[in-house]
Amino acid sequence: MKNTLFIEGGYPLQGQVRVSGAKNAGLVLMVASIMAEGETILDNVPRIKDVEVLIQILEDLGVRISWNRDGSLSICPPSSGLKTQTSYELSKKLRASNLLLGALLGSQGEAQVSLPGGCDIGSRPMDLHIKGVQALGAEVDVEYGYIYATSKERSGSRVYLDFPSVGATENIIMMAAKTPGQTVIENAAKEPEIVDLANFINSMGGRIRGAGTDVIKIEGVPTLTAGRYAIIPDRIEAGTYMIAAAITGGEILVENVIPTHLHPIIAKLQETGAQVEEVKQGVLVKAAQHITPVDIKTLPYPGFPTDMQSQMMALLCHAQGSSIIVENVFENRFQIVDELKRMGARIKVEGHTAVVEGGTRLSGAKVRATDLRAGAALVLAALAADGVTEIEDAGHIFRGYEKIEDKLKSLGAKVR
Ligand code: EPZ
Repeated sequence: MKNTLFIEGGYPLQGQVRVSGAKNAGLVLMVASIMAEGETILDNVPRIKDVEVLIQILEDLGVRISWNRDGSLSICPPSSGLKTQTSYELSKKLRASNLLLGALLGSQGEAQVSLPGGCDIGSRPMDLHIKGVQALGAEVDVEYGYIYATSKERSGSRVYLDFPSVGATENIIMMAAKTPGQTVIENAAKEPEIVDLANFINSMGGRIRGAGTDVIKIEGVPTLTAGRYAIIPDRIEAGTYMIAAAITGGEILVENVIPTHLHPIIAKLQETGAQVEEVKQGVLVKAAQHITPVDIKTLPYPGFPTDMQSQMMALLCHAQGSSIIVENVFENRFQIVDELKRMGARIKVEGHTAVVEGGTRLSGAKVRATDLRAGAALVLAALAADGVTEIEDAGHIFRGYEKIEDKLKSLGAKVR
C-alpha cells in the first residue's frame, strides 16, 4: 500500500484524544448482521480501511449497506437470495472475511469462503474454525483456495477449542446462534469483542450465555430480528495512544474507554513508571521521567494483548535497561524488529523471545510498515525519535486507526 507518513520526533504529546469504536468488534458485528431480518443500525463503527473493504465484500453478497448522516452504519441483508460465495479478490484483502463462514452457515446453510492468505504475522490457519462448524454438522471441503461448507442438517453440539481462537469462537457462536439445539464451546476466547458479539446477537433475540468466560452456551433460535446497537470502544487504539504519552514524555487524556478492557495495558505501563489514572472521562496517562524496563508475555485475554506487543517494544527501546518480550499468540510477530534497528534500537530475537536492550534514543530513519500494529508501533517510535522518520506502506496503519493523522496533530505531533 503506497502511503508515506513523515513524522518529526521529539515533541511531548499533550491534550486529549477520543477513542473510536473497536475495529475487531465492528467487523464481526457487521458480519453477524447478515443473519438478522430487517435493517441493523450499528453506532460507533470506525471509518477505517478494513470496514470499507468488508462493506464491499458484503455488498458483493447482495447486502445493502450505507453510512447514515448521524455516522451510524445501516446493514440490510436481502430477504432472500443472499449470495454465499465470497469474492476471492476482495476477501484476500481482509482476513476477517473468514467470519462469513459461520454467519452464512447459520443463516443460509451453505458457505464458500476463500481461505485467507497468511499475513505478515503468521500462517493464520483455520483448522479450529473448521473443527467447530463440522461439530455442528457442516460438511466441509477445502480446495482451490476456498472452504466449501454446507450444513442443511445441523444441530447444536459440544466443541473444545485446542486454542482460544478469537475468530473460531466467533464463527461457532454465529453458526450456533441459528442452529437448533444447544452448543457448548469449551476453552472459548474471552476477549471483550466476543462479549460484544454475544450481547449484539442476544439483543436480536439470540440466546447466548457465558461470553467472556471459557465456556459459552448457545441455544439456537429460528429468527434474529435486526435492531440498533453501539459497539464497544477500541482497547488497542486506546492502548496505542496511552503509549504515545509515555514514549514522548507527554500527558494525554484518552477518552471513551472501558477501563476493565485496558487493565493488562494499564498494569504494564505503570510498571514502566508511567502514571496511569482512571478518571471520569477516561484514562489519564503521564509519562515517567525514566522508563523502567519490564518483561512482557502476550497471552489470550485477559493476558497482555498480542496486538499491543509491537507498541510496547517501541516504548521499551527507551527503557533504562533490558526487557524481555515473549510472543505466545502468533508464530511470527517480530517483523518490526528490523525496522526499529534501522532507527538505532538494540534488539535480539531468539524464536518467540525478543530481548530489547533499551538505553538508546532512537533516531529518525526510512522504515516500512509490515502490518497494522507494527505500523502503529513505528509511529510511536518516530514520535519519540530524534529527527524525521519516513514510514512507507503506511496504508497498513489506516486499516485500523481512524483519523490517526488528525488525532496525533491535535496532540501536538508533527505528522504529514
Ligand atoms: C483476532 O484474529 C484479531 N482480528 C487479531 O487482531 C488478534 O491479534 C487476534 O484475534 C488475537 O487476539 C480480528 O478480530 C479481526 P486467533 P484471529 O484465531 O481471530 C492460531 C489486529 O491487529 N489459530 O485468536 O485471526 C493462529 O495461528 C488483528 O487487529 C490456529 O492455530 O486470531 C494464531 O497463532 C491482528 N487455528 C492464534 O491461534 C485456527 O483455526 C490466535 O489466532 C485459528 C487460529
